Amino acid sequence: MLAIKENISLKTLNTFGMDVQAQYFLDLHNEFELFEFIKQSKSWPKTLMLGGGSNILFTKKYEGLILRPMFKGIVKVQETDTKMMIKVAAGENWDTFVAATVEMGLGGLENLSLIPGNVGTCPIQNIGAYGVEVADVLESLEAVHLLSGERITFNNAACHFGYRESIFKRSDYKNYLITSLTFCLNKNPTLHTQYGDLQNEMQMLGVHGIGGLRQAVMSIRKRKLPDPEEFGNAGSFFKNPIVKKKDADRILSDNSNAPCYQVKNGMFKLSAAWLIDQCGLKGFEHGRAAVHSKQPLVLINKGNAQASEIIELSQMIINRVFSKFGIQLHPEVNII
Ligand code: EPU
Repeated sequence: MLAIKENISLKTLNTFGMDVQAQYFLDLHNEFELFEFIKQSKSWPKTLMLGGGSNILFTKKYEGLILRPMFKGIVKVQETDTKMMIKVAAGENWDTFVAATVEMGLGGLENLSLIPGNVGTCPIQNIGAYGVEVADVLESLEAVHLLSGERITFNNAACHFGYRESIFKRSDYKNYLITSLTFCLNKNPTLHTQYGDLQNEMQMLGVHGIGGLRQAVMSIRKRKLPDPEEFGNAGSFFKNPIVKKKDADRILSDNSNAPCYQVKNGMFKLSAAWLIDQCGLKGFEHGRAAVHSKQPLVLINKGNAQASEIIELSQMIINRVFSKFGIQLHPEVNII
């Protein structure tokens, strides 16, 4: 018998700390329960998959069913001289998993240390940090279609990964529930320390290897990003804008120090944090919502903020950046 709850508060289930309700809510503890759920073939007004609730802003009561996969398990599935394939279940906490791989001496995920959330939701927005994305290390993932019960393996290419993008953001793929992921990790890791101050941080801490790199990433993140336990937040609220060469050139001609990186297809990535910072918005407050003073890409809930206050603040930021630079920012957070 599945324990579907009704009208439950989501306050502790989203890192923004929004106090809204879900009409129906179901934790799926194992795949047996998942198939039991599919067999019932009840029609729901709509469904939403929730992981750690770390990249979502609930704006009102969710009139539908929220499903949360709680499947657990980390296993070695295949090994060569240089590589190890590790399969991990969707309900594992992301950072617990990263810590386990580093502990096993397997390289690939250490730059993605301390990102909040669960493993099953990490491919949806192709989480990335310090020069590494999930897309760089994911071999494949397994998903089950909630209506047909069909189990499908998506290899890396089939996920259509992009910067904070994947096929699972498309509306016609919303019915796939990701059950497990397989990562291809290195037994002889090479360190990716080219991003920002990683090398300096490692030197300062006097640390080495993938364990040391993990420590450096954690130390930078703790310094820059707010702890959701203290101030509700969902990490970066906006994506870094990808712009045409003419827009990048225009920004650079007025601001030679603007961070700007060439990406694919002749496009350029600007820094949303820099653009917001240049508008003098660090620490800016609107009601009980604020721009984080150490990393302006992050919006925080200073305590009991309404989603409307966060949305209004984000709109003010979008408008200010657009009027100063003519660059449009887009939310990275999933607004429900
Ligand atoms: N910057 C400023 N002022 C600031 C902060 C940053 O001008 O107050 C400029 C600096 O020039 C800095 C640049 O912005 O070099 C980039 O800053 P940072 O290294 O903090 O990275 P980011 O581009 O702002 C992205 C990810 C983060 C990830 C970091 C580190 C996105 C949307 N965000 O932020 O991911 O942790 O890189 O790799 O791509 C998240 O997605 O939730 C997240 C936190």
